[in-house]
Order: sequence, then C-alpha cells, then structure tokens
Amino acid sequence: MTYTSRQYDFSDKPAGYERLATELRGLLAGESDAVANAANTSALLFDALAEVSWAGFYFMRGGELIVGPFQGKPACVRIALGRGVCGTAAAKRETIIVPDVNAFPGHIACDAASRSEVVVPLMAGERLVGVLDLDSARLERFDAADARGLERLAAIFLQASRLEDL
Ligand code: SME
Repeated sequence: MTYTSRQYDFSDKPAGYERLATELRGLLAGESDAVANAANTSALLFDALAEVSWAGFYFMRGGELIVGPFQGKPACVRIALGRGVCGTAAAKRETIIVPDVNAFPGHIACDAASRSEVVVPLMAGERLVGVLDLDSARLERFDAADARGLERLAAIFLQASRLEDL
C-alpha cells in the first residue's frame, strides 16, 4: 500500500469527490477487514478534505453507536439511537447536514470548537451498521455536494469490508 498525501481541488466538489473515490478504492483494494478499512478511510478523509476537524466512524454495537476508527480529537464513546446528530441520522437512516451545530437540538458537543457537521448512515442492505461522521470548525462547511460525495465514499467502504465482523 502506498499513499501520497494530496490536496484535491474541491472547487468542483463532485469532481473532487470523484477523485477521492478512486483514491479510496485503491486504498481499500484487496483488504476486507472492516476496522482496518474504517481506519484508512477516516485517515484519507481527514488528510484530503480541508477544514475538517474530525472524521470517523461510529458502529452499531448492542443497540447503540460506539465510536470506531477516527481522526481528530478524542470523542464521545457511546451515542444512543435518536440522540445527537449521529443518533438521529442512524435512527432516520438518512444523511443529515447540520450547517450550524448550535441550532441543532440535542447536538452532542464532543469538541466545543465544532461548528458544523455531516453524518451519513451506513447501511448493509436493511441492516444499520453505523454512521460516518465529519465535523468542521467552520459554519456551513458541508453542503449537499459533500453529502452526496461522502455517501459515495461510505458505499465504497461498505462494499470493500466484511461487515459481519463489526
Ligand atoms: N456531534 C456528534 C457527536 C459525535 S462527535 O461530533 C465526534 C453528535 O451530535 O452526534
């Protein structure tokens, strides 16, 4: 495995995420260990995306979300379904973009510097596996193009990984 850090041009977000998708496919090629793949996926996102203060996974374990591999500051470990942005995205099984975390009722402030967030649910068919969560210290960092791009990257992670092991 070789990885060269690169700042992708995200002035055209769909094109930027397209290149990142190619990079991620290469990074995960030939590896199905879900924890290893989650670790490298979060490292790639944190390295390649500007103004991201936290990027990582929460996995469903015993009926709640438990933090998995991530990059950024230490985070809250357990999140109940329906709680915070992560628990809400997981319960609704839909991507949630939060332009201003202070305006999101119930937002869980792991990092007081976080200003905006996006959470993508991870589905294996009908089964909720967990969520992919990104935070930024900038207000309105994430828009619909980010959400679509991150859903694409999440799908690549899910396809590459042996999810029964989570
Ligand atoms: N802010 C999240 C908690 C997880 S951290 O941001 C890493 C939430 O409200 O669910």
